[in-house]
Formats: sequence, C-alpha cells, structure tokens
Amino acid sequence: MRKPLIIGNWKMNNSIAESSLLIEKLKKSLKAIAGVEIVIAPPFTSLFCLSAIIKGSDIKLAAQNIFWEDRGAYTGEVSPLMIVDLGCEYVIIGHSERREYFKESDEIVNKKVRSALRNKVKAVVCVGESIQEREEDKTMQVIESQLRRGLEGLTLNEVKELTIAYEPIWAIGTGRNAAPEQANIVHRYIRRLLTQLFNEEIASGIRILYGGSVKPSNSAELMSEKEIDGFLVGGASLEADSFTQIVMSACMV
Ligand code: 13P
Repeated sequence: MRKPLIIGNWKMNNSIAESSLLIEKLKKSLKAIAGVEIVIAPPFTSLFCLSAIIKGSDIKLAAQNIFWEDRGAYTGEVSPLMIVDLGCEYVIIGHSERREYFKESDEIVNKKVRSALRNKVKAVVCVGESIQEREEDKTMQVIESQLRRGLEGLTLNEVKELTIAYEPIWAIGTGRNAAPEQANIVHRYIRRLLTQLFNEEIASGIRILYGGSVKPSNSAELMSEKEIDGFLVGGASLEADSFTQIVMSACMV
C-alpha cells in the first residue's frame, strides 16, 4: 500500500515573513491529520527559517530545484548537500516551468536526479505533455521519453526513493485540471513503464502524484482513482485552508 503524499509547491512566492505565517497556520490545521505524508516546497530563501518552525511537526521540506554538483565554482546554484543541510528530505526536479524557462533537458534532469539520490535526497521527477502534444496524440510518447532519459542509469536501490509527478502543462495554473480518469490512464501507463524499466515490485512501490489545478473541489475525485497516490499542488498550496482541505481529501480515501 502506497501512503498518499501531498506536496505544496509554493513556486516563487512568499517572503520569509509570509512563509513563516503560512507554515504556522499549516502546523495547526494539519496537526490531527494522519495517514498522509505532507511536504512543503517553499522558495530557497525560506527553507532555513521553515526548517526551525516545522521541528516537532509531521511536515517535511522539499527544495524546488538543485544543481547536480556537490560544490564548486557554479555561481548562483544550490547543491544537494546544501539542501540536506537545510533539512530537506525531498527535491522537485524537472518541473515544466524549469524545462520551459531554464531550458532543462531530460539529460539535465537525469544529472540532477542522480545527484539527489546519491546524496539521499528523495527526487520528485516531473513529467507532462503540452496541449499541442496532447492534441497530436503524443502524450504517452512524450512521457515515455522524459522518463526513459530522466531515469537513465539509476540503481534499483536509488529508484525506490523516487516519486513521479504527472503534471500536464495545459493544466498548470490554468484552473483546468485533467479529468480524474484521464489522469489515471497516464498514471497507469507510467507505472507500466516503470515496471519495464525496473521491475514490478519497485514500480508498485513508487508514488505517482498528479499536479495541475488541484483544488479542494476536485481533489477527492482525483484521489479516488487507483493510480493517483497524491498531489503536487501549486496555487492552492498558498492558502492554509485550501491546502488543508486537499490534504484531508487524501486521508479519507
Ligand atoms: P497549480 O496547482 O497552480 O496548477 O500548479 C501545479 C504545479 O505546477 C505544481 O508543481
């Protein structure tokens, strides 16, 4: 049985003061919730402060990105060692916004995934098709190529620490989520591919999250699909109330 995982991706939002306020609210509202793993991915600038505030709670931290080298002359970058130092258990890799605005290729995603896992940070690898690719019936082809290249060379032990996030680009920040059944079909395809690339035992243990306009009004229905193991939430994670409701819908499954 895969434990549901809900990740709040705050993207480039919230000052240190705003982050502190929001996490304090979440600590209270999520206190009594069990059976769901809860992770927050604030901007780098808030990680240090949040790691102190969440001590003693069940909330975990993720970074939104990393570089693939441990240290050196890479101005402006943050290494896996540094996010471990900040208390991050997870890191989001290959988000479509990074693929689009920072030209992150599958090869770069692969380097980052390998460096995260080498440093015992759990990688959340994002995949997803554009609207054009979906309309041209290329969804599975795109997902397959992103996964094959992004996960190349991982050992079975490393793969166990992986989470996949299916985020159709056309559903991100648009208010238009994938229909539950539509998402489930892609998730099932991803799990089949993971079985091929690794093995059935590993594939059945990997959590596959859905992301793209998840909100309290659609989360329960999405969560009821067999292959949806949780969410990567953007906009709705910026409000304590909506994020809490989404987490609650996952623990009622
Ligand atoms: P929204 O929930 O705002 O659509 O964002 C999804 C996302 O990109 C999470 O990583």
